[in-house]
This record gives sequence, structure tokens and C-alpha cells, in this order.
Amino acid sequence: MVQDIAAMLPAFERHRGNLIPILQAIQERHSYLSGAAMKMVAKHLGIGPGEVYGVATFYNQFRFQPPGRHRIKVCLGTACHVAGGEIILENFERKLGIKDGETTADREYSVERVVCVGCCALAPVALLDDDVLGRMLPSKVEGLFVQFEIERQRQEREKVARESGEQARD
Ligand code: FES
Repeated sequence: MVQDIAAMLPAFERHRGNLIPILQAIQERHSYLSGAAMKMVAKHLGIGPGEVYGVATFYNQFRFQPPGRHRIKVCLGTACHVAGGEIILENFERKLGIKDGETTADREYSVERVVCVGCCALAPVALLDDDVLGRMLPSKVEGLFVQFEIERQRQEREKVARESGEQARD
């Protein structure tokens, strides 16, 4: 990541007005802003790392942890907000024990708010990786976690079966 950012920075003139475009470009490429990345940006622009961090945390578009293996995005564009998107976000946060922009300790899931994803007719909308989940309800969030658990148990059983098959061959 550090090498890639070092290669990206010269494309941006060294003036403070480029701070947000640089942070956006880094996040676009690496999905989050690490402490090292923010220090590099500070050095490039000749400003303090604290200032970069302060600006980045002011805007809720930036995340500071790598996303989970599964990314849950909850739309809070106008249509989804009106249709109860906040409640859906709260449900995901409570189920996962994390807040908007955070990743679970096992790095399996992350949750974040996004703006309109273009399917307002299905509001409130959430995305699970690339799958659109429309007309979300708290009960659908619950159902999703039941499916996750069933899938986790299936994978666990397959793993045990594979390992015992390998031991039988040895
Ligand atoms: S506002 Fe959520 S999809 Fe448009």
C-alpha cells in the first residue's frame, strides 16, 4: 500500500486544496485510510498529520479500518432515509457489535453508510457485497444473520469432513 500511495502522490499538486481529492483517491484504491497513508499525505502537502486526520474524520465518507471479507452497506440517501434506513443501519450495528465504518474483530464483516445506490424504488436498501437487498426490515436483518450462521456451520462441517478424509488417507 505504501509503495502504491508513494506512486500516486506526485499526480497531485502540493497544495492544501488537494487534501480531500487525495484521500478520496487513496480510499478508492485501498478501501480505507491507514495511519501511514495519512502521514504520507501530510508530508506531501507540507501540513501536520493531525490536520489530515482531523479533516478525514470530519467527513463520514472515510473509513480507517480495512473492510471485512463481507461488506455491508446501508443506503442513507433521501429515499432510504425516509423509509427507515437509519433503523436498518442500527440493526446491523447491533447484530455485529460494531459501528458505522468499523470491521468485526474476525475481519468477516464491516458495515458502512452510503448515499443513494440507485434503486430508490426498493428503499430502504442495503448491499451485501454486490447483492442488493431491497425493502429491508429489521426482521430481514435477523434472517440474514441466520443464513450467515447456517453457511458458517456448513463450511465448518465441510472442513471437518475434509480433514478427517485426509487423516484416513494418511
Ligand atoms: S436513496 Fe437509497 S437507493 Fe436511492
